[in-house]
Amino acid sequence: MSEYDPGKVICSCARVTCGDIADAVAAGAKTVDDLREATRATAFCGSCTDRVEAFLNDVLSGQAKPAAQPQQPAADPGQLVAPIFRQVCDDIWYVGASDRSADWFEKQYPVPDGMSYNSYLLLDRSTVLFDTVDQSVREVFLRSVETLLNGRPLDYLVIQHMEPDHAATLGEVLRRWPKCQAICTAAAKKMIGQFFGPQLSGRVQEVRDGVSMMVGKHILSFHTAPMVHWPEVMVTYDRTSQTLFSADAFGTFGALDGNLFADQGNFPMDEYRRYYTNIVGKYGGPVQQLLNKAAGLGVSRICPLHGPVWRQDLGALLDKYQKWSTYTPEETGVVIAYASIYGGTELACQALANALSARGVRSVRLMDLSRTHASYVISEAFRASHLVLASVTYNGDLFPHMENLILQLKHHGLKGRTVALVENGSWAPAAARKMDELLTGSGNHVLPKKLTLLSTLKQAQLEEIDAMATAITESMK
Ligand code: FEO
Repeated sequence: MSEYDPGKVICSCARVTCGDIADAVAAGAKTVDDLREATRATAFCGSCTDRVEAFLNDVLSGQAKPAAQPQQPAADPGQLVAPIFRQVCDDIWYVGASDRSADWFEKQYPVPDGMSYNSYLLLDRSTVLFDTVDQSVREVFLRSVETLLNGRPLDYLVIQHMEPDHAATLGEVLRRWPKCQAICTAAAKKMIGQFFGPQLSGRVQEVRDGVSMMVGKHILSFHTAPMVHWPEVMVTYDRTSQTLFSADAFGTFGALDGNLFADQGNFPMDEYRRYYTNIVGKYGGPVQQLLNKAAGLGVSRICPLHGPVWRQDLGALLDKYQKWSTYTPEETGVVIAYASIYGGTELACQALANALSARGVRSVRLMDLSRTHASYVISEAFRASHLVLASVTYNGDLFPHMENLILQLKHHGLKGRTVALVENGSWAPAAARKMDELLTGSGNHVLPKKLTLLSTLKQAQLEEIDAMATAITESMK
């Protein structure tokens, strides 16, 4: 007979403790596969498999018993992490937090100003939490919820989106408040099983599109929003406060620096666009469906899962969403994205930008793909009506940054743009043909006349630059 510490971590990848294993055995797990299904133990690097199996056998055979836990003096919560919450309006509180140490969002989008992970708590006759947060801000989030509840139970957790930047801490919330019922779509319920194992299924109540629920004086209705940004997404409308809890929609990159409301701070629309186009740009149709649903609700406040709360001038943001989701340019202008190694292609792009300016085009943007992350270029390509793609030939193909950009533009569904192509090559230029091939079927119009450089831009080719600038400006009419 041996004693074990229930709090001891046995699978460090999934943060599974001996107590979690014993709980899973009590719930019926008999094999390592059962445990993996129930707790995720052994599911990642697998180095703990022998240890987990040995412990499982000890628990099953009754050889391992939990050690008596010493009585801990109650900790003064004030000595731990301070709660940081803000009031949104009567009864509704912001309990999210920001991570300023993150360099990347979703491991691929740079977030130089950090990222906020929002969650909201409604205190009415029932208590309702809207989504949880990323692991990076879990402690302050939990302290804020605990503090605001002030000893009351948490009755409902509305799970609008299962991506881990919002759902990573839902298991912890349901564990801390054992009577809390989770509310979500059927698709989200399935994902809860995938991420957290089957043991939470009894805590989940599925809702269908349009279902309402009274939680006191507040009346909530749930509205499915599939593919904004995953298929299980729903948004929630609080009829009483006219608040739309909008999941990923209407969010932005960047931490919240004190100001909670969009009308209080400087939240650049460029970052809203970069967030939208890269996160849900592909799903314009589903975003249109959500906009149509929201239009019938009477929304005067938007609480997204990233970025500030909107309570004024909602029309400005909705107008942007209308344009972005229909792939309508915000303005007539040209984005010149170039992949240049030794400067020849870049010089041609500069000459083209000058020629466009001379023809009265005021919105011209040169973007070096070797210095600018593709997410910024995608955002600009959604903003402008015209795109010039200029690439050197590399290994008989495209320069990798250009190939990546075009693939990403296609992945994010950009269409309806007029595109001009510039290629360079010192012995066998092939980039224009490759770009043309990649753009085939993308829904963008490629101007027939391409510009080909042989190593450098020659003076004699300035006429070709002028001709391309003229073709671009003619296509703006
Ligand atoms: Fe913010 Fe799709 O998660």
